[in-house]
Amino acid sequence: MTTRSLARAALLGALAACAGVPRDVPPSIPMDIHSHCEPERVRVTHASLDLEIDHAKKEIRGAVVLSLDRHDKESPLILDVKGLAIETVTGSDGGVRLWQIGPEDKNIGSALAIQLVWADTSVRVVYRTTERAEALQWLEPDQTADRAAPFLFTQGQSIFTRTWIPLQDSPGVRITYDARVRAPAGQTVVMSAEQVGQGPDGAFRFRMDRPIPSYLIALACGRLEFRPISERCGVWAEPSVIAAARSEFADTEKMVQAAESLFGPYRWGRYDLLVLPPSFPFGGMENPCLTFATPTVLAGDRSLVSLVAHELAHSWSGNLVTNATWSDFWLNEGFTVYFESRIMERLYGTERARMEQQIGLADLEREMKELAPRDQVLHVDLRGRHPDDGFSGIPYVKGALFLERVEEVFGRGLFDRFLRSYFDTFAFQSITTGEFVHYLRKELFAQDRALAATIDLDTWLEKPGLPADLPRVQSKPLAEVDERIAKWKEGTAPADLATRGWVTQQWLHFLEGIADRLDAAAMSKLDDAFHFTQTGNCEVLDVWLRLAIAARYGAADARLEEFLMTVGRRKYLEPLYKELAKTEEGKQRARAIYAKARPRYHAATTASIDGILADKGK
Ligand code: BES
Ligand code: ZN
Repeated sequence: MTTRSLARAALLGALAACAGVPRDVPPSIPMDIHSHCEPERVRVTHASLDLEIDHAKKEIRGAVVLSLDRHDKESPLILDVKGLAIETVTGSDGGVRLWQIGPEDKNIGSALAIQLVWADTSVRVVYRTTERAEALQWLEPDQTADRAAPFLFTQGQSIFTRTWIPLQDSPGVRITYDARVRAPAGQTVVMSAEQVGQGPDGAFRFRMDRPIPSYLIALACGRLEFRPISERCGVWAEPSVIAAARSEFADTEKMVQAAESLFGPYRWGRYDLLVLPPSFPFGGMENPCLTFATPTVLAGDRSLVSLVAHELAHSWSGNLVTNATWSDFWLNEGFTVYFESRIMERLYGTERARMEQQIGLADLEREMKELAPRDQVLHVDLRGRHPDDGFSGIPYVKGALFLERVEEVFGRGLFDRFLRSYFDTFAFQSITTGEFVHYLRKELFAQDRALAATIDLDTWLEKPGLPADLPRVQSKPLAEVDERIAKWKEGTAPADLATRGWVTQQWLHFLEGIADRLDAAAMSKLDDAFHFTQTGNCEVLDVWLRLAIAARYGAADARLEEFLMTVGRRKYLEPLYKELAKTEEGKQRARAIYAKARPRYHAATTASIDGILADKGK
């Protein structure tokens, strides 16, 4: 028996009422091994939040009213919780209800089982968060750009919403929500929903009337300002960052229009961006109506805006059509990387899109050298694991390459029509890999059996490695870089390499292309010519700092330490800590820096860095 079924058996034993009443026919919901909830029996359909944010106590407290769809009237309501303090539970009539928290699984937390009475159509849970809330990051003023006020943000994906809201935390269960949130004077609250103004009590109000998976419920609270970009797009940021953010994201409306012309109408009302403080653990997070973004994307020259294209694309792939379980995560990210590329191509041309594709594949091939075979599978087996454990470029880049392969075989015209109908057919639903395959076979493959026979779905979706029919693009601007790399290897001085006009993606390709030949002396010459150590482009800086560690280039030490102390983006920190951990001396240094930096990182980042610096074998 699994922990999950044991927990359920214990709870049901304690709570279940008599059997024998016929059950309603339940809607089919795929089994999600990362949730305790049993939505086919009792399903949450709406959450109404009434919360207060307390920076001093680092606590969110309040209540949530959950509306219920009860298919099996005998069954208790089962919610997911982790590190939440539950105070009281009442039913529709205001009367108290029996509840019990089951044993905690380290990955998925506990089941909160609530015994309902016959007439209950909703429950109200009064609760508060604790210091164990992995979704939340409470920032001191000195961790923000303006250093003027504390800041709070949430990160729900993959299974962290249960650490700040008791609910059915499975991507297969979609709910609508509304919220009323009180915050200290001078602070602004934003959420992944439509803003419906401030009440007379100063509370911020929100409404999400389209059904979304729980991992997309998000909140941030701090000293924030807003600037419009267009009628439906705008940007939120701390006052000192707002101008830079507004200028970096100036093309957002054009991106929304490009995406709409490719995949159908944008169905979420507004599309705004929120620039978070630098400890934000991801590049971006596609919270509906309001993408959360790292400030490291503000390069000053819009060279990293593919991140906006990516998060925007999730408004279709991910938020409109969602992975039903975390094993289907590639449906979210693979489609999104594919669409991101289509949006980039529309806005900035084929070569720009190709450069990013080529770099994505090169990064994946480097990463795959260290990936266990089971983590190289698109339709990944996560039994016994946390959904984030096998996180890698596989669902992203291999997922997108699979779709590019289908496009290559069937042609853009047919493939685009297929995609458009895919989004319309599954809008506001959560689907599995199996459902996708069924639809693909029926709607696209059936149109030309001979073409379909050239795509081996089983190899692409269920096997490790990269299939032999993997599409490989070659971009001209990167081919030019390859020539310069060859020249450099033959001894041409950096200043004579004719790099004028190079864009970020070319510099990234250049650095990766010379990585295996670098020593400290060579890095010093490159630095004299190109000032990498001082670059304000975090993508370039991240690669440079990794090379500096490997080559023991001491002149970058201070910059490395400063970067590790301020930026919390997991994708940047992982390779740096890994590179440091390769030598005993580096590991000592990494541990000393990490001891100071760790309290400044979000739990999503520490979960991975802890593993890198752990004393294995001791
Ligand atoms: N949804 C992801 C972020 C995520 C994935 C959070 C899994 C938690 C668990 C987001 O859309 C994403 O992929 N962000 C990327 C940026 C992108 C341009 C590839 C990131 O954060 O680096
Ligand atoms: Zn994504």
